[in-house]
Amino acid sequence: MEKLILVIVEAAIELVPESIQDHPSVRAYAARRGKKPWEVLLDRSYHHSAMKRLPEAEKRGRPDITHFTLLEALGSPLNKLSLIEVYIQARSGHVIWVSPETRLPRVYERFKGLMEKLYQEPVVEAEGKTLLKLKEGTLAQLLGEIKPDLRILLSEKGELMRWSSFGKLITSAKKPVIMIGGFPHGDFHKSAHEMADKAVSLWPEPLEAWIVASRAISIIEHALEVGERISQGKHIKEN
Ligand SMILES: C[S@@+](CC[C@H](N)C(=O)[O-])C[C@H]1O[C@@H](n2cnc3c(N)ncnc32)[C@H](O)[C@@H]1O
Repeated sequence: MEKLILVIVEAAIELVPESIQDHPSVRAYAARRGKKPWEVLLDRSYHHSAMKRLPEAEKRGRPDITHFTLLEALGSPLNKLSLIEVYIQARSGHVIWVSPETRLPRVYERFKGLMEKLYQEPVVEAEGKTLLKLKEGTLAQLLGEIKPDLRILLSEKGELMRWSSFGKLITSAKKPVIMIGGFPHGDFHKSAHEMADKAVSLWPEPLEAWIVASRAISIIEHALEVGERISQGKHIKEN
């Protein structure tokens, strides 16, 4: 395996949609934060009553899922070895590239602030390096650009696999993509299933997205024997 690509699919990240910008809970929340209603992320913790009007409301308004999942992925030993790259396919119709060097805010409210800024200025840089980049795009377009040689959709409805077999499957590919749903309830749209070579389940019941991300990454680290190649605080990349 040269690099693992992790895509958070249909991530519940979007700015408050126009149809509910007038709702009192949305206006009050935006005013409290010194922003306009269309400048803030939809967040179920604050916009629950307004969200009742939205289609697919059960899948929306959960930026925390992406936040936790990113913290798991970016903090992993696999990322320290530059063996992982992460994309967010947001339900707003955007794809966000996250540099492996990005140090995300630990505090959720700050993470939301960063995402809101990204919707206004689609590139975040620090010390001359691009850390986050947002552009319009779909999952199909993203996969077309990445050109993976294996596309695995992680889903509780997929084929239940032993963890060791999953590790072998992923690490035997050169540039595998694993796709994890960034939404709280329900299933992927049909198109995501159609774009996958295989849907794999890692546990007989639904787990939270960040748990699935952390286990999948850990299984892949085991399959690559990452922990067996540590010597005096250093990691030996090749055998
Ligand atoms: C919270 S789940 C999505 C909602 C879930 N379908 C439900 O209704 O509770 C978030 C994502 O984690 C992944 N996932 C959850 N359970 C899984 C499992 N048992 N095996 C593999 N992936 C899983 C899938 O990618 C899923 O889209």
